[in-house]
Amino acid sequence: MSIILNVEALDKTYPIKKIFKETIELKALTNISFHLAKKETLGIVGESGCGKSTLAKVLTKLENISSGEINFRGKNFNTLSAHEFHSFIQMVFQDPYQSLNPRKKAFDIIAAPLRINSELNEKEISLKVHEMLRKVGLREEFASRYPHHFSGGQRQRIGIARALMLRPEVLILDEPVSALDVSIGAQVLNLLLELQNEFSLSYLFISHDLSVIQHMSDRIIVMYLGRIVEYGTRDEVFNNPQHPYTKALLESAPKPQKGKETSANILKGELPSALNLPIGCAFAPRCPIATEKCKSFIPELEIKKNRMVACFEA
Ligand SMILES: Nc1ncnc2c1ncn2[C@@H]1O[C@H](COP(=O)(O)OP(=O)(O)OP(=O)(O)O)[C@@H](O)[C@H]1O
Ligand SMILES: [Mg+2]
Repeated sequence: MSIILNVEALDKTYPIKKIFKETIELKALTNISFHLAKKETLGIVGESGCGKSTLAKVLTKLENISSGEINFRGKNFNTLSAHEFHSFIQMVFQDPYQSLNPRKKAFDIIAAPLRINSELNEKEISLKVHEMLRKVGLREEFASRYPHHFSGGQRQRIGIARALMLRPEVLILDEPVSALDVSIGAQVLNLLLELQNEFSLSYLFISHDLSVIQHMSDRIIVMYLGRIVEYGTRDEVFNNPQHPYTKALLESAPKPQKGKETSANILKGELPSALNLPIGCAFAPRCPIATEKCKSFIPELEIKKNRMVACFEA
């Protein structure tokens, strides 16, 4: 297994200014460590506000990290040139309506990364744009159209084409199908699987939809309020979850088969504010098995039953 992305002890805090008060820190990511291997998909799942998009943004330098280290193929990502960096990692955004410039034709949107980061002439760029349009399942004549001519699914294909122009090794997909209808989203997911095969891509696949995560991922990170609470293979995490938050998340998810709707472990209560985290385990206020220790101390990630879990009681 060749590891191409390694993240070590990553922290990200956002300074929040309060009127008439000193600035306070919002901890969006705390002590995040993981790796991504060639051709694999690492799924990232967790409720809204747990830090998924922040992770995507620091990995693509849209935000600075506060501390920690990110290595691409063993090189610190800050030492890479802009060209090396963009040829290594690219992102596909959630909202295909906002992520494409409405004043630019599809051709120019897809060509932009090459115009900025390569020495190719316009003829060579044109060939590559048309080739990529075909690969993402769009007709070549679509190149001259503007974003408003396209459906949501077609726009997301344009976003994927743009992300692939520099032939990156890693794609970060931040909720790539959550703005789309289920059937259109399924087609885009299948396209992503085909492209992963063709270009030997590694995916960091972010979603709050467990069925999508299960379908796409080899391994899974479960996040809760900026921390990893469980991290293991797809089958370990889905078939035998260990963290009470993972268990609750899986039991709360809508299930296709009919059966008992109620469960003892359904996710209860509100997510605490990231600005005012509990002293101990952040999940303790909602956890059915929390003890006094959980309310006072933060559990570290440790290996339990073939995966990493941050829970004293697991
Ligand atoms: N630019 C910012 N300034 C201050 N706080 C921010 C900023 N961006 C995100 N946050 C905060 O960081 C935390 C994590 O947010 P993030 O957007 O990463 O969550 P998420 O898991 O992607 O949520 P969602 O599922 O809703 O997309 C939240 O508490 C959020 O309010
Ligand atoms: Mg998000």
